[in-house]
Amino acid sequence: MNNILITGGCGFIGSNFIRYLLANSNYRVVNLDCLTYAGNLENLISVETNPKYKFFKGNICDSSLVSEIIKNEKIDCIINFAAESHVDRSILDASIFVQTNVLGTQTLLESARKTEIKRYIQISTDEVYGSLGAEGYFTETTPIAPNSPYSASKAGGDLLVRSYVETYNFPALIMRCSNNYGPFQFPEKFIPLIIANALNDKAIPLYGDGLNIRDWIFVEDFCRAIHCVLEKGRIGEVYNVGGNSEKNNKELVKIILERLNKPESLVTKVTDRLGHDRRYAIDYSKINQELGWEPLCKFEEGIQQTIDWYVNNKQWINNVCSQRYLDYYARNYKGLEK
Ligand SMILES: NC(=O)c1ccc[n+]([C@@H]2O[C@H](COP(=O)([O-])OP(=O)(O)OC[C@H]3O[C@@H](n4cnc5c(N)ncnc54)[C@H](O)[C@@H]3O)[C@@H](O)[C@H]2O)c1
Repeated sequence: MNNILITGGCGFIGSNFIRYLLANSNYRVVNLDCLTYAGNLENLISVETNPKYKFFKGNICDSSLVSEIIKNEKIDCIINFAAESHVDRSILDASIFVQTNVLGTQTLLESARKTEIKRYIQISTDEVYGSLGAEGYFTETTPIAPNSPYSASKAGGDLLVRSYVETYNFPALIMRCSNNYGPFQFPEKFIPLIIANALNDKAIPLYGDGLNIRDWIFVEDFCRAIHCVLEKGRIGEVYNVGGNSEKNNKELVKIILERLNKPESLVTKVTDRLGHDRRYAIDYSKINQELGWEPLCKFEEGIQQTIDWYVNNKQWINNVCSQRYLDYYARNYKGLEK
């Protein structure tokens, strides 16, 4: 049995991945999370008593804690999900983004390289590639050209990972994924924000002309891709992961409002986000051809599952963020997208 360290496991993708891994593998999972506003122990209640699961509250920037955990828990693999992840927050103040996404990554790499770690996976984002026009796709060889402080900090982390592979022969891989959606996503991100506000008949802010395009992937498909790369990915490689499901923001809001039987009059156009990337689209043929992965969940099914989950888990929304918080975001036109 392998011992895997998951950082940021109490957030959206990390918690989905921990549940996925415990259900679909024999790994013993150690979760290190400092529980920022985006990390909630409630996301992992269902595995709390699982003997193959252990939680440490702590920061990835704390090198002695990270080294101690790697040694004492006999960690063989690390997957780094821990990050500040919200673009709008990075525009307001980038410092914590640099601290966690750049320095935190370097701390993990430095602690891990002095051990017998077999594999390290950096969970990165398609946003490091910048923005596309109407045509084309991001491939793994697309030059890095981040446009927001968030994506710049993620790109910084990626470059450090690359440098550790080249300099120290460190066994790392990088995954760059498009926009995830699904259960347990903090309701400052676009899809849960639309659902939460619509359920409360609150205004839904739409940036600019609403025509910015994102490629949406159901979180379980991304979890399967990570598991594939963990088992079979080639050391030193980058793998792009996409959902094959491009939607502009306007049509996305419309689809959700229709399914919730709520009026389009809830949509409120607001001043565009600074430096707003126009379009992201992913070419995932490398992971498809090398590892046989492809997205399985159709957007129509994934979005219905997601809506149903939020409708059935209103208490979760209330617990992780008060209504006051959602009102604040609606009033200040923040939290529209990742
Ligand atoms: N959500 C997406 O659509 C998406 C898409 C592509 C890539 N990513 C990447 O995936 C990863 C996870 O994203 P998410 O949406 O689950 O984020 P999230 O904001 O929901 O969760 C982040 C988690 O990291 C923890 N954390 C933050 N700083 C930490 C620190 N210094 N030490 C320890 N823990 C810390 C938080 O408490 C939280 O549990 C991030 O690296 C993000 O950049 C996300």
